[in-house]
Amino acid sequence: MLGNQGDSAKRKSLHGHWSSRMAFILAVTGSAVGLGNIWKFPYIAGQNGGGAFVLVYLVCVAIIGMPVMMSEILIGRRGRRNPVATMALLGQEEGGSEKWRWVGGMGVAAGVLILSYYSVIAGWTLAYTVKSATGAFAGASAESVSQQFNNFVGDWRLIGLCHTAFMGLSIFVVARGVERGLEQAVRFMVPALLLLLLLLLGYSMTSGFFQQGLAFMFTPDFDRLTWNSVLAALGQAFFTLSIGMGAIMAYGAYLPEETSITGSSAAVVVADTAIAMLAGLAIFPLVFANNLNPGDGPGLVFDTLPLAFGQMAGGVFFSTVFFVLLSFAAWTSAIGLMEPAVAWIVERFHHTRAQAAVMIGLLIWLLGVGSVLSFNVLSDFRFLAGTIFDNVDYLTSNIMLPLGGLLIVVFAGWVMCRNSTSDELGTSGLWFSAWRVMARFIAPIGILLVLVNAVR
Ligand code: PHE
Repeated sequence: MLGNQGDSAKRKSLHGHWSSRMAFILAVTGSAVGLGNIWKFPYIAGQNGGGAFVLVYLVCVAIIGMPVMMSEILIGRRGRRNPVATMALLGQEEGGSEKWRWVGGMGVAAGVLILSYYSVIAGWTLAYTVKSATGAFAGASAESVSQQFNNFVGDWRLIGLCHTAFMGLSIFVVARGVERGLEQAVRFMVPALLLLLLLLLGYSMTSGFFQQGLAFMFTPDFDRLTWNSVLAALGQAFFTLSIGMGAIMAYGAYLPEETSITGSSAAVVVADTAIAMLAGLAIFPLVFANNLNPGDGPGLVFDTLPLAFGQMAGGVFFSTVFFVLLSFAAWTSAIGLMEPAVAWIVERFHHTRAQAAVMIGLLIWLLGVGSVLSFNVLSDFRFLAGTIFDNVDYLTSNIMLPLGGLLIVVFAGWVMCRNSTSDELGTSGLWFSAWRVMARFIAPIGILLVLVNAVR
């Protein structure tokens, strides 16, 4: 049997291991960098008034995101199974209760729910690749670009088709397993995305509105900050880092013994945050230059970036490349969203990876239809947080991920014994103490404070 009590060093993952430390960092970065950085961060920041939100988000990333990410990786590596089984096993080993499996279960559910709408938006980026390549935005005015967007999302058949195509792509890679293809894709995608963002940033700087964009992002106006926007910032920190739902735990399960968890986490957190900041800096000046509203919602990048590319020399080319890269970024994130569910089905019900990927993929596709219709046929069907799309987003980002993250740090900080964690983190020195204080006190108190105040 795998995993005798306390014998974690001998445990092996059923799904294989990353070939190197770099492979792991690339995979986690691929999961972290996605629509969350480029599509979601700017519009959520816009809806929540900019500066103060961005500041809270950065604080959440540093003092909550970092310890949660480290906890997830160390739990994953120690358990070496899917998040449900890992939490059950370690719960048993360290704390005498298998009930911790529910934390893994909530993660599996969160991944499925998130991907159901994520895939819809990723489908938009696929379509925007084609639109860019065919010159739909060349020299277009702000009105024309936003008109094109409205017509596009208004057509449920078309965006349903794009959602279907993206889910097909996701099922395909997940079915093939953790390593093949993925590493290569991320290796070139993240640097290329960074380059194009720098190009856009250069363009934004010449728009004449860079100052406004900068001020909007970095001048905090605390009067506009409500507990709800603090919760949105916390939720965004979880979402963008892919934490709180077991994706990183599942990836940690494939991590070789000797890799440094602290170093890898820091690298991913810095890269992910840098990309979100760049996206914001590129987008907000364009918003102001074109008299658009930063609080406009999910269409924000689709209204601003094509416009910028449309006015640039070589715009058709750059715009196409940009949307291809964004589709790739979404793709590598989708894999992370599916992995906990797929690994669970494979281990629990002994299906093949391919069968599990198809089953989970179909379920996600079906759930996604609700989000497809939220932008057209059912756009007036609103309850609680808004449309179906709004509700799935709110429930997952603002409730499930922070709650999952809370339980994960509490488990790593309070339930697991000191030795198991220092063993995994490979140190008992300063870094370990810092992690432990954050995991035991700062992160849980922070998350609770925000959740309680916002949901009350
Ligand atoms: N972090 C991804 C993004 O920013 C989304 C994601 C969340 C991926 C959770 C995997 C797990 O787009």
